[in-house]
Amino acid sequence: MSRVGSRLLGTAGLVRLRSLLSERLSPFQAAAAVALGLAVGIIPVYGIQAIAAVTLASALRLNRALALAATFINNPMLQPFLVLGAVELGHLVLHGHWMALSPAGFAAGDLKDHLAAFILGSLLLAAVLAPAGGAATYVALSWRARRQAGPTHSALAPGSPVTPATLTVLRRRFREAVARRYASAPLRDRSFVWWKVRLDRIFDTLLQEDLGDGPAVDLGCGYGLALLAGHLQTPGRVLRGYDLDARRIAVARQALDGSDCRLSVADIATVEMEPARLVLIVDVLQYLDGDGQRALLARCVEALEPGGRLLFRVPETRRGGRTLLTRWLDLLLFRVTATGLSPTHLPATGYRQWLETLGLTVRESHVDNRLPLSHVVFVATKPERRPDA
Ligand SMILES: C[S@@+](CC[C@H](N)C(=O)[O-])C[C@H]1O[C@@H](n2cnc3c(N)ncnc32)[C@H](O)[C@@H]1O
Repeated sequence: MSRVGSRLLGTAGLVRLRSLLSERLSPFQAAAAVALGLAVGIIPVYGIQAIAAVTLASALRLNRALALAATFINNPMLQPFLVLGAVELGHLVLHGHWMALSPAGFAAGDLKDHLAAFILGSLLLAAVLAPAGGAATYVALSWRARRQAGPTHSALAPGSPVTPATLTVLRRRFREAVARRYASAPLRDRSFVWWKVRLDRIFDTLLQEDLGDGPAVDLGCGYGLALLAGHLQTPGRVLRGYDLDARRIAVARQALDGSDCRLSVADIATVEMEPARLVLIVDVLQYLDGDGQRALLARCVEALEPGGRLLFRVPETRRGGRTLLTRWLDLLLFRVTATGLSPTHLPATGYRQWLETLGLTVRESHVDNRLPLSHVVFVATKPERRPDA
């Protein structure tokens, strides 16, 4: 629906139109509605075709808007072909031959003869075109439904790579969930998350990663977007989130309402860590100094259950233009948010070595983000059993 259309209809009209279009719209019901509309549009009951289509659709419990729309097969562009086709078909059935397409051919029969041929031909044409249109609708809507259902994480074989087509579906679903869940947030926060999920590649990473099941904790969770990705992948898992920003926590609580979540305003440097299968820290570690970061990572590893994962992202520190821009923007962010701090950016090798010393298997990806920024994403897995156990 275009913006102009939305304005003309107004909100109430728009809601009504949407509900009309989406009522009784399984592929089969939609196909039946289209077939009905086509039949009524072809059969020459001129003047009452719209009323007939809507009345019959209501009686047969079919989508009325679709049935009505299909009657417009008799539009000025197609009507001449329908009339001519009906007359020719009628003549073929009544007389065993086509009518010659010339004034002489038309003059060869009387008006009653042509009218009978037209009515019979129209009925035959409706009997052929209506099921054909219905079948085409059925095939198209079934295909669309299959495409929209798409693959899910649970349908993917463990360890199988997420194909670009799968990622597109997962991305669309995530964005739809974000639009729905943050719809009642204040405009400023809603706009922020809208842009964030489109500009930040961390969500592609989260959607492609196997985030496992069991309790998930997000340290510095902000608006709770990463937790939402975890929830969508494994609905029903326990979600915990901590952030110093009370406003963001309030928005996140509303967005994640209905899931098993507890979001608190708390300092991640001191918060008590509960056992978790997944710990997320996205763009937050740099708020702590070097020792603070190492202490927090050690506490995360301690809290992780065997087989659990720690996924965190930090700004890139390798030489390059993007790195400079990333660090400069981070500095600016710290200034704007008036934390009174400066970000502490540590090299990726430091994190890797530190985590490996703690016994974790570490995967590290250097990701060129949009805007253009650069980050390093670490996925560290705790062994199923401690080596010394
Ligand atoms: C750049 S934002 C990232 C938010 C979120 N992780 C995301 O990716 O959307 C950093 C967040 O960390 C939070 N934060 C910074 N220091 C913190 C601390 N010591 N304890 C809890 N939250 C903190 C900020 O309030 C902010 O919401």
